[in-house]
Amino acid sequence: MKKIFALLSICSVIYACNSGEKTAETQDTSTQAVAAAPAADTTASAVASVGSAKGEQLIGASDCLTCHKVDAKLVGPSYIDVANKYPATDANIDLLAGKIIQGGSGSWGEIPMAPHPALSSDDAKEMVKYILSLKTN
Ligand code: HEC
Repeated sequence: MKKIFALLSICSVIYACNSGEKTAETQDTSTQAVAAAPAADTTASAVASVGSAKGEQLIGASDCLTCHKVDAKLVGPSYIDVANKYPATDANIDLLAGKIIQGGSGSWGEIPMAPHPALSSDDAKEMVKYILSLKTN
């Protein structure tokens, strides 16, 4: 009887150790997975969406989409083409914001872009930041 009891307790000690290790292992991998996967994602998309969500709204509220589409040429170039042409530097953001407000032609062809004198330069810059965030190359 004593022997059986001893055997049982050894078993349970072994079992406890094993399962203890297992939980530790699984916890380890799951925290690693949680830490590794979404962390990279959220930082990248959070930065992009903070800078561009407002611009996207402004573009939706203005007349831009009658001449521009995100991924196809209409009257004006697609926003993806614009994003791939201009790196998102402060100088380019200023340049393009100015062009949206004043209108003009020559960068993509002879058809001019209509001016948008009612837009503030801050709003125009938000629009440009959104457009340049669409870069695919
Ligand atoms: C009447 C049609 C029309 C409307 C409305 C319009 N665009 Fe354009 N857009 C164009 C054309 C055409 C071009 C190409 C101009 C050129 O070749 O320089 C252009 C060019 C651009 C460019 C690139 C400029 C460059 O120099 O490369 C940006 C950025 C842009 N548009 C943003 C906007 C935004 C934002 C709005 C809304 C506020 C808007 N557009 C409204 C026709 C339009």
